[in-house]
This record gives sequence, C-alpha cells and structure tokens, in this order.
Amino acid sequence: MKKVAFIGTGNMGGALIRAACRAVGPEQVVITDPAAEKAAALCAELGCLAVPSNAEAVQAAKYVFLCVKPQIMPGMVKALSPALGEDNVLITIAAGLKMADILADLGKTVPMLRIMPNTCAAIGQGMIALTAMPGVDECHWQAVEEILSCAGRVERLEEAKIDAFTALAGSGPAYVDLFIEALADGAVMAGLTRQQALTYAAQTVMGSAAMILQSGKHPGVLKDEVCSPAGSTIAGVAVLEQHSFRYASMEAVMAAYRKNIDLGKR
Ligand SMILES: NC(=O)c1ccc[n+]([C@@H]2O[C@H](COP(=O)([O-])OP(=O)(O)OC[C@H]3O[C@@H](n4cnc5c(N)ncnc54)[C@H](OP(=O)(O)O)[C@@H]3O)[C@@H](O)[C@H]2O)c1
Repeated sequence: MKKVAFIGTGNMGGALIRAACRAVGPEQVVITDPAAEKAAALCAELGCLAVPSNAEAVQAAKYVFLCVKPQIMPGMVKALSPALGEDNVLITIAAGLKMADILADLGKTVPMLRIMPNTCAAIGQGMIALTAMPGVDECHWQAVEEILSCAGRVERLEEAKIDAFTALAGSGPAYVDLFIEALADGAVMAGLTRQQALTYAAQTVMGSAAMILQSGKHPGVLKDEVCSPAGSTIAGVAVLEQHSFRYASMEAVMAAYRKNIDLGKR
C-alpha cells in the first residue's frame, strides 16, 4: 500500500502533490482526477502513479487527501464510502466545510483531519493549518505533517479557529499582493521602472517578514529601528497612519472572517 493518495489534481491539489512527492517520494504517491490527462501530465513530471477512479485511489493508499471543490464534496464522499477500508485516513482541504459534515455525508466513522493551505504552498512557502476530529491518533497528525513538510509551515489549530486562520493566511496573499502593487506604484511615481519597483517591493516585503520570523522581534520594534528622528521613513509611516492603514488591515481580516462564518453555515 502506498502512503498517500490525492483525489483531485487542480490548483491546490496539484501544489500539494508536488510537495508530497518531494517529502515522501513519488513512489509513495497515487493521484486521480476525472480529467485523466491532467493527472497523467503530473505523473510524467513527478513520477507518481495515476489511477482511473477515486475508489482505486483509496484502495491504493492510506492517507487520502480530498482536493475537490466544496460543492463537489458531499456527492463525491457518498460515492467513495463503499470503497473505504479500515486503514484509510481522510484529509479534507476544502475551505469552509466542517469535518463533522463531511463525515455525515460519508456515513462512516473514519479518522479525519483537515488542512487549510494558502496559495504559497505552490512554491513550498505555504502557511497551513492542520486540525483533526477528536480522538485522531497522534501518528496520523505526524504522518500528515510529514507529507506536508515541503509545502510550507504547518501549525496545529483547533477547528473552531480555522475561519480566523483562513481570514488571515488564506486570504492574506491577496492583501500582501495589493500592498506590494501599491508600494511599486509609488516607486514608479518616484521614477523607478515597473519591473524594478515590483522586484524591490516584493523582496522588501519578503525580507521584512523573514526578519520578524527569524529575529522574534515585535514588528513595532523593527519599525522603530528603521525610523530615524525627523527622517524620511517616519514621514512615510505618518502618511500610512493618517490613512488608517492599520485599521483598514484589521477590518479586512475581520470582513473575511465574518464572510467565512456565513459561508460555513449549512
Ligand atoms: N486554491 C486555493 O487557494 C485553495 C486554498 C485553500 C483551500 N482550497 C480548497 O482546495 C480544494 C480544491 O480547490 P482548487 O482551487 O484546487 O480547485 P480546482 O483547481 O477546481 O481543482 C479541483 C479538482 O478536482 C477535480 N474533480 C472534480 N470532481 C471530482 C471528483 N468527483 N473526483 C475527483 N476529482 C474531481 C477537478 O477536475 P475537473 O477540473 O475535471 O472538474 C479538479 O481537477 C477546494 O475545496 C478549495 O476550497 C483551495
């Protein structure tokens, strides 16, 4: 039996398949998708195995990642239920769907975990929340952490906090992209080329984020270290404060959080 199966090889499924092949080796990975040519192309690139049906995927591997759209999930798991064996462990990646609801559609009690990845997983720099149904064995948590180890940073989180996590880390790349684009617009106004401005802005955001994670310093302290008295940086900071940059950022996360709660109501 192989270690891991992926049902659905779309944008996020594809990103996780690439990461899993790096983490546990392509010979341990089996994938399936109704678009057989999509699965075949991934296999040709990565060296994993494609099978023609979801039932064959769960029979071929222990840890089964469900990587279909949320609206497909109920029908897909109902159809999958008879093929599930005693050894299978399910991992849902669907945004907004609670594990208990998926298990109710499945009509069976199997160990189930849930992850919430973000798009940065595609380059191994994701921020991924991992949660599980009560009573799931520690060995399953660890196995999923190993499978995802090349997709980015994985943090354990209770399911009740996934909506908050999604509002920050799931939606966050869009906020940061907007910020980088706006910084670059300012630099273009100041005379840099578009390409220079985007590269310098993106590298600056990446470096600043790495400083926070690596130094363990509060961002306010790092900000103070850049702001010299009567200097240009504090002049820029004052403009951001004048336009409620921090309040707008907080409200963006809260708006996404409220929307996630609405979307999760069944
Ligand atoms: N993309 C993100 O940033 C992101 C972030 C966090 C979580 N997620 C979650 O990831 C899941 C997948 O999203 P995605 O963006 O990767 O969607 P996607 O690109 O549409 O991928 C879904 C894949 O599932 C396949 N599929 C459809 N019905 C199927 C079935 N019955 N059995 C097996 N495979 C089936 C689709 O094939 P066809 O194309 O042939 O229909 C497609 O390849 C969603 O639940 C989403 O909430 C995504």
